[in-house]
Parts: sequence; structure tokens; C-alpha cells
Amino acid sequence: MVDTSERTIRRVACIGGGTIGASWAACFMARGLDVTIADPAPGAADAARRIIDGAWVALERLGLAPGASPDRWRFYSDPVAATDGVDFVQESAPERYEIKLDLLRRLSAALERDVIIASSSSGLLISRLQEACNYPERCVIGHPFNPPHIVPLVEVVGGLKSARWAVDAAMNFYRAIGKHPIEIRKEVPGHLANRLQAALWREAIHLVAEGVATVADVDAAISEGPGLRWALMGPHLTFHLAGGTGGMAHYMEHLAPAMTGWWPHLGSPTLTPELQRRIIDGLTEETRGRSVEELARRRDEFLIRVLEARRQVDPPPVDEPGPSDVPSAD
Ligand SMILES: NC(=O)c1ccc[n+]([C@@H]2O[C@H](COP(=O)([O-])OP(=O)(O)OC[C@H]3O[C@@H](n4cnc5c(N)ncnc54)[C@H](O)[C@@H]3O)[C@@H](O)[C@H]2O)c1
Repeated sequence: MVDTSERTIRRVACIGGGTIGASWAACFMARGLDVTIADPAPGAADAARRIIDGAWVALERLGLAPGASPDRWRFYSDPVAATDGVDFVQESAPERYEIKLDLLRRLSAALERDVIIASSSSGLLISRLQEACNYPERCVIGHPFNPPHIVPLVEVVGGLKSARWAVDAAMNFYRAIGKHPIEIRKEVPGHLANRLQAALWREAIHLVAEGVATVADVDAAISEGPGLRWALMGPHLTFHLAGGTGGMAHYMEHLAPAMTGWWPHLGSPTLTPELQRRIIDGLTEETRGRSVEELARRRDEFLIRVLEARRQVDPPPVDEPGPSDVPSAD
């Protein structure tokens, strides 16, 4: 049971049981919640089971709530049937307006008016998605990062018709299950973290296109350098420390002028077929025969260890519920 101070959340519907939906389902079950999963694709239940089993190994290491079980889910091919009696809906269907609009219209017609519908959408606007909904004020974006059962960040975005209570309830829910929600206060395409990634990737591609460095060296410039710090602190805090004891105020005066002087030289490449080929070839060289599955396993192992290390360095305050303090539905 997770009390968001709006509605006590015991059962969550995961609509779409693919990469993100099944990972969300595992994450909710790890917090002791009951889950339904809906997915119309043939074989979807087996595919979801495989994702949940894989995620559970990580979730056990990260800490389970009392009563948590990887078997507390039911599968439906009909999304509306999966929402019967649920307290929260996490929609993770394909990233297409026509699919999500139809789904949200049907789900919202069946759900009680205070059941939040949160869409995992990476870039669609909730203002547009909620147009089709009954009680559109309960619709928000709840955008996770892959894999949602490990990465804490969730971006919560309200649209033109979203109510304050809905944004607050979604923020409270994600916080209560041990996530780190941030509220995006203004709807912008790509939300926030993906825009930051887009800005960096644009420059990374520009540097490859200009022959400044290889694909592998551009990647190393992050993973062997600033990327290590970014697991602990974002760009502002990073530069606050770069300013020495004078902090950001000194940085603004001393180093920011040089950095802003480079802004006009940042690139805006066109991702031509030839440039795409160069990046794909560069990755073939960089990955040296390692499969995507192998690289993903290595990434997940690394992420878990980073989170464990962060908890040791920065333990959560004692009065703040940790992931395993969320009460179970039992
Ligand atoms: N993959 C990522 O890295 C990532 C990260 C964050 C958010 N997202 C978002 O999560 C959502 C899902 O992405 P994904 O990567 O899991 O895609 P996916 O293709 O792995 O999964 C989508 C699932 O939805 C199912 N589906 C199709 N039509 C449906 C319907 N009408 N009702 C219910 N289910 C339906 C499909 O069968 C499939 O299993 C998208 O909105 C995407 O933008 C993806």
C-alpha cells in the first residue's frame, strides 16, 4: 500500500508490457504493490515474465518492501479489463499519438475520476493526449529512464488540463516507491533530461563529423571524465565545485566567460546517411563484438553499484522513507 495522501495505492495497471511497461511492473511489485499488465501482442505475457524475472535480480539487490513478490501480477490482453479496481495507471504503449489517444480515451472512460493516468511517453505532449480523456485533469506524464526498475529519475509533467492535485499525487506516489521525481513546470518537447541528452549528442555528432575525434574517443571523453561526476551532481553543482572555495559566484566571474565564448562554435549537424554510417561504424569499432545484451547487463550492474555507492556516501535522512520502508499491501 502506498498512501499518496490523495488515494491509497494498492494496485497499479501497467498498460503496455514491453521494455518499459514490464520494468515498471517489476518496480511496483518490488514495493509490495499488486500489478496488472495489459498488452495485445501475441506472446506478450511470456515476454513480460522474462523482463520481470531479469529485473527482479536487480531489485532484490536494491531492496524489496515487505510482501514484495515477482508473482503479484495478472496479465490481460484487453487494457480496459486490466484497469478494473486499480488505483493508478502507468501507460507504456508505443510512442504514437494515435495509439495513446485511443487507449487513454478508452481507459479514462472506464476509470474512477480520481485514478491518475500517467504516461511514460518520452516526448509526446500530455496536453494533446488528455484531449481525448474523460476527466483529463487526472492525466500526467510520468516519464522514466531506462531501465525504470533501476534508474531513480521520473519526470512528471502536467498539461493544460492537468489538475494540481494530479501532479502532486503522481509526485508523491513516485517518491513513495523510492523514485526521484522532478516536476517539469512547463511542457516542452522531450521533457528535460532527454533535452540535455539531445544537446550533448548533437555536439558529440558534430565533433565526429568535423573529424575532431573518433566515436570511441568522444564516448571516452564523457565516460572517463565528466560522466563520472554526473552520477553524483548535475552541471550546475559540478561547476559550483569548479569555482573552488568561491563556488559558482567565482566560476561565473572567472571561467564562465571562456565557456560562453565557445557557445557560438557549438555545432548543429545534419544527420545525413553518410554521417549515420560513420557513427554506426564507429560503434562497431568501439564495442568490439560485444552484443547489446552484454553491454546492457554491464550497464545495469554498473548502475546498481553506483546507486549502492551513493547510498553509502549520502545515506537518506532517517525521517525520509527509504525504498524498503514503503508499507506493503498485506
Ligand atoms: N525504451 C526507452 O528507453 C524508453 C524510456 C522511457 C520512456 N519510454 C516510453 O515508454 C513507452 C513504451 O516504450 P517501450 O520502449 O517499452 O516500447 P516497446 O515497444 O518495448 O513496448 C510497447 C508495448 O506496448 C504494446 N502495445 C501495443 N499496442 C498496445 C495497446 N493498444 N495497448 C497496450 N499495449 C500495447 C506492444 O505490444 C509492446 O509490447 C513509450 O511511450 C516510450 O516513449 C521508452
